[in-house]
Amino acid sequence: MEEQSVIHRSVLLSLVTWLTILSIVGCQSICPTRCLCYLIRMPRTIECSRQGMLVFPKNISDIVEHLDLSDNLLTEITDDINRLTELQYLNLAKNQLNFLPSNLEELKKLTRLDLSNNAITNVADIASISQLPTLTVLYISRNPLPNLKGLTSEVLQALDAGHCLITELGNQSLSGLPALTSLNLVGNPLKNIQTPVSESLRWLDMSDCILNYLYPDTFSQIPNLEELRLTNNPTLVYSTRHATLQHLKLKRLDVSRCNLDRPGLHGLPALTQARLSHNAIRLLPDRIFTRNRQLTHLYLNANSLERLNASTFQGLMKLQTLDLSANNLVEVHKQAFQNNINLKLVNLSYNSLHQFPDLAATFLATLDLSFNLINRLKANSLENLPMIVNLNLRDNQLQALPRGLQSTTLKVLNVQRNRLVELHNSSFSELPSLQKIDLSGNRLTEAMDPVIFRNNPDLAVIRLEDNPWRCDCTQLYVTFEFLTDPPVKTTGSSLICQSPANVSGYSWEVACFDAWNVDVYHSKDKTWGMVMVSLLILVVLCGSVVSIKHTMKIKRRVVEQRQQLEMAERERLRLLHRRITTDQRRCTYITISNQQRLEEEELEELDHPSEPRINPLELIGPPTYEEAVQMPRLVHSMDALNEISVDNSALRAMSSVDNLRIKKKRTRRPRKRTQSEDDLLRREERRQERIRRERNNSNSNIGEQPLNTNSRNPRTSLARRSRRHSAVDESIESGSSKDRPRPQTPNTKKKKRRQMSRNEHVTDDEDSDVQTFNSSRSVVIRELPREPRSGFRKSFIERET
Ligand SMILES: *[C@@H]1O[C@H](CO)[C@@H](O)[C@H](O)[C@H]1NC(C)=O
Ligand SMILES: *[C@@H]1O[C@H](CO)[C@@H](O)[C@H](O)[C@H]1NC(C)=O
Ligand SMILES: *[C@@H]1O[C@H](CO)[C@@H](O)[C@H](O)[C@H]1NC(C)=O
Ligand SMILES: *[C@@H]1O[C@H](CO)[C@@H](O)[C@H](O)[C@H]1NC(C)=O
Ligand SMILES: *[C@@H]1O[C@H](CO)[C@@H](O)[C@H](O)[C@H]1NC(C)=O
Ligand SMILES: *[C@@H]1O[C@H](CO)[C@@H](O)[C@H](O)[C@H]1NC(C)=O
Repeated sequence: MEEQSVIHRSVLLSLVTWLTILSIVGCQSICPTRCLCYLIRMPRTIECSRQGMLVFPKNISDIVEHLDLSDNLLTEITDDINRLTELQYLNLAKNQLNFLPSNLEELKKLTRLDLSNNAITNVADIASISQLPTLTVLYISRNPLPNLKGLTSEVLQALDAGHCLITELGNQSLSGLPALTSLNLVGNPLKNIQTPVSESLRWLDMSDCILNYLYPDTFSQIPNLEELRLTNNPTLVYSTRHATLQHLKLKRLDVSRCNLDRPGLHGLPALTQARLSHNAIRLLPDRIFTRNRQLTHLYLNANSLERLNASTFQGLMKLQTLDLSANNLVEVHKQAFQNNINLKLVNLSYNSLHQFPDLAATFLATLDLSFNLINRLKANSLENLPMIVNLNLRDNQLQALPRGLQSTTLKVLNVQRNRLVELHNSSFSELPSLQKIDLSGNRLTEAMDPVIFRNNPDLAVIRLEDNPWRCDCTQLYVTFEFLTDPPVKTTGSSLICQSPANVSGYSWEVACFDAWNVDVYHSKDKTWGMVMVSLLILVVLCGSVVSIKHTMKIKRRVVEQRQQLEMAERERLRLLHRRITTDQRRCTYITISNQQRLEEEELEELDHPSEPRINPLELIGPPTYEEAVQMPRLVHSMDALNEISVDNSALRAMSSVDNLRIKKKRTRRPRKRTQSEDDLLRREERRQERIRRERNNSNSNIGEQPLNTNSRNPRTSLARRSRRHSAVDESIESGSSKDRPRPQTPNTKKKKRRQMSRNEHVTDDEDSDVQTFNSSRSVVIRELPREPRSGFRKSFIERET
């Protein structure tokens, strides 16, 4: 089933295609050679114009609607045309036809027939048009037809018989055309018209004829005539002192370029538009238009009017447009338009007005006063024109614009090609609605200050070309910017310098390019510079603030650290003090003076806690526990140093347990102490001096072996040296790099050495800095195998093994 339908469909499709192709082929076969056939589109058209055809083509498709055979050489149309029953428009213009076939009955749809530019000499030869039942428009212009008498068509509405040889239009001429509404007889040698009769005619053009006189009743038999054109009948006169053309329904009359010496419109009461331009009207008698109450447009331009009295246009209540241009008006009465309450446009251009006409017109919007001789404008000139929008004063002789020309409605002011030399401050200040001003072609030299347009917010166009600008670049810049910055008010290229001579002929922009750009860049540079400088200052300020903050923080931290350190020191001192006092209790032979001194010092310290006077390094001095243990042995060696050590060692041995505990704690703070070293160095030295002195005293007091605190004592130094040597030997001997003391800077070594030499016997706190004392103590350590101590284990082990 489905297959069958598919086959069906394909067959149908192919059939349709074939049919289409066939029809197209058929059409083409019907399309005559040298013709273009558009038979698919509507209307179906065949164009055969300009093919040099001599005979009417035979096989034209009978479905054609528009057939164009214009501009050929046809002399005859055969009866074959009756085949074309669909024909609506037949163009046979520009051929050499002088007749139509006598039978056109079958062209039942033909509405437009163009027979213009043929050789038809008699309307009788085309009489068959009467058979065309729908013909509405017939062109028979440019045929040598002498008249239209005999042309008949019940339905024809428009007949163009222009540029024929029609010399007369009699009372029978249009009798065969009862439906005619428009008749064009332009360019015929019509001289006389004898009251043609047409009930239907509404539009008649007899321009470019040679009409001489129109009787008052000439158009009386064309009662429905609305528009009559009689332009360019150079000798035509239709109105005399006694009689004038009459028509009750004529609305539009154009009698331009005739020979009228007066308007002669009083017989035309329905007239709304009257063109009387280019006539010879010199006088407009008072109240001459009082009958033309319907008149809205009156063109009296290009006549010879010399003056307008107050009552000239009286009664033209509906007048809107009045063209009085190109007359010889020297004066327009102030009240000339006072009755024309609808007057919107008055054209007074191309007259000889020397003064601005102080017109009073309530609704006047456009006043054209161009091409006059007006040389003065007063500030109040527009005061009686409350609706004025467009004032054209171009090509007058104004030398200045009034200060404060007043109008709240004026939008366009044209003062092109006057003699303006300068613009005043307040020239435009009272024109708040101004949108466009044309100042071109004047004698402006100085760039106007944009301030003069301060009260013209809507000003969008300022034309300034053709002025002899003096290009003072500094002065021009502001103006140029004002004019050419968006919204652009004038084109920069229209501004041409005239002076100074070296820039004459150049545009402002070109002439002042260097000056302006330097200025611009300069200011830009300056602003840039300012920006950069301020940025830099900002950065510097920020940086300094941050760094100050940072240093303050660091300082605070240092102070804190120092305070911490001092606290620790004080704590340590207290402990030391306690220890010393306990020591004191046990050992009776410690010198009282020493103890006193110590106490004194500590008390001092406690009295002035903020200023720790005891150098922590002072406390390093005393021999270690090992030393203390070691010392008794050395007594037997009879060495002077050892003798001293005996005393100390005894003391130390007694407090060993306590000491050891404290020492362990203290070993954790060597670094802090070294930090404070530098700070306290000076004080320490001062102290040392005192201590030395005191100690010397005390030593001598108790009568014992002198304490070899003094480094100048040759024996002590000798002993120390030997000790140091042995330490070096020891380390070499041990051969252990691990056990070797950490390298010391010469400075610290020196310092420690010095301290050692001074404090050896005074302070029992040998402390922590193992490495520092390593060299001097290693001897002791070697000889003290049973006391384990970190950093010396190896040597212990060695000893033990
Ligand atoms: C068309 O005209 C040619 C001669 O120009 C003629 O031979 C032909 O038969 C005509 N065709 C039709 C369909 O009339
Ligand atoms: C037409 O004008 C002729 C004179 O030219 C006159 O004899 C005739 O009566 C007029 N006919 C009509 C209908 O006015
Ligand atoms: C205009 O009016 C004056 C008097 O105001 C008069 O002398 C003159 O003739 C009038 N002109 C016309 C054309 O009516
Ligand atoms: C006034 O008349 C002149 C010349 O007749 C014409 O060029 C101009 O456009 C007219 N002005 C107006 C506003 O119609
Ligand atoms: C413009 O007017 C101001 C006062 O509004 C006055 O000071 C200034 O001098 C005037 N400038 C010119 C060029 O008239
Ligand atoms: C024209 O001459 C003036 C000095 O008279 C000078 O300042 C100016 O730069 C010159 N302009 C040009 C474009 O050469």
